[in-house]
Amino acid sequence: MFLQALSCNNTTGKIPVWLMRQAGRYMASYRSLRAQYSFHDLCLTPELAARVTCLPIEAFDFDAAILFSDILLPLMALGVHTVFREQKGPQLISQGWATLRPPVDSTSALQETIPGVYRAASLLCHSLDRPLIGFSGAPWTLAAYLIEEEASVSWPKTLNAVLTNLQEVKTLILALEEMVVAHLTLQIQAGVSAIQIFDSHAAILPDDKVEELSIQPILRIIRRLPTCPIIVYKVTDRTAHFFTSGPAALSCDSSVDISSLRASIAPSIALQGNLDPQLLLGSKEILLQKVRHICSCMREDKGFIFNLSGGVPPQTDEETIRLLIATVREQRSV
Ligand code: CP3
Repeated sequence: MFLQALSCNNTTGKIPVWLMRQAGRYMASYRSLRAQYSFHDLCLTPELAARVTCLPIEAFDFDAAILFSDILLPLMALGVHTVFREQKGPQLISQGWATLRPPVDSTSALQETIPGVYRAASLLCHSLDRPLIGFSGAPWTLAAYLIEEEASVSWPKTLNAVLTNLQEVKTLILALEEMVVAHLTLQIQAGVSAIQIFDSHAAILPDDKVEELSIQPILRIIRRLPTCPIIVYKVTDRTAHFFTSGPAALSCDSSVDISSLRASIAPSIALQGNLDPQLLLGSKEILLQKVRHICSCMREDKGFIFNLSGGVPPQTDEETIRLLIATVREQRSV
C-alpha cells in the first residue's frame, strides 16, 4: 500500500501511514535499550539497528519501516565525528568545514567507516514483511550542521557563511553531494524499497539562495541514483514547484494546505504529511480533528501517505500514537 501510494497508484481505499522518528525515545522499549547502549552503538551495530527499526512495527504496525540510523553518521567518512549529547542535541567535531574535501572514493570510505548501517539495511530487507525506507540528509542540511557544529534555532554561523563565504559553502555542498550519492546507492544496493532525503533546514535559506543551495543539489543527486522512489522532505509552498520531476513524493511542512498543493502539483507526484507533531502533545480532541481533516481531504487521492511534518516528540504518549493510527485507518475512500 505504501509503495503503491508512492507511485500514485494506491487503489486499496486505505491510507498508508508511517511516522518520522517512529523508533525513538517516546517508546518505553527504545528507552530500555538506550539504557544499555549508546545511540552510536544502536545505529552502528547491525543487529541492534535492525531490532530498533522493528520496535515500532511490532508495536503499531506501521505500513513502512525506516532504517534506524542518523543523518549525521555518514559524515564520519569525511572525518567528522558526532557526539550525541543528552538533552543538548548533537555536537559535530571536525577540523573546520571549509577544509573538508570528499574522499577519493566515497563508497569505500563509507563502507569502511559505517559498514553496520548497510548491513542493518540488508538484514532488514531479508526479514521484514513490509517496505524499508533508507535515508540521507540533503547536502544543505548537512552543511548547516557542519558549519554551525550543532543544532540551532537561528543558524547564525551558517547564514553568515552563505553571505560572506558563498564559494566555500558551494564547494562543501559539492563534496556532500558525492557522499550522499554513495550513501544512498549503498542503501539501495542493500535492498531498501524507498529513500527519503531530509532537507530539514531548507527553510532558513533566503529566497535568492534556496534553489542553488538546497533544491539543485537534491535534483542532481536523484538523477545519479539507481532506480528507487525518492521522497523529498521538507517541502513548503515556496519550494514545491521546483520538484516537478525527480522525486516520487514530497513530504510537506505543516504550513502547507496539502489539498491545495495537490491541485497545483503533477498528479504523478505523491504527497506525504503533514500533521504538526506538536499536536501529539496537546488535546486529543484537537489532534484527532486535525487528523480527520487531513485524511478526509486526501482519502480519495491515490498518492497520499499520512505522516507528520517532523519527528515524533520524545514526550509523546504511546497511547496517542495508537489513537492516531487507528484514526487514520478508520478513514477510507467511500
Ligand atoms: O525512526 C526514524 O525516523 C529513523 C531514525 C532517525 C533518527 N534521526 C534517529 C535519532 C532519522 C531518520 C533521523 C534523521 C535526522 N537526524 C534528522 C532529519 C529529520 C529531522 O528531525 O529534521 C536530523 C536533523 C537529525 C540530527 C539529529 N539526530 C538531531 C538534531 C538529534 C538530537 C535531537 C533529538 O531528537 O534528540 C539526533 C539524535 C537522534 N536521532 C535520536 C534518534 C532516535 C535521539 C537519540 C537518543 O536516543 O538519545
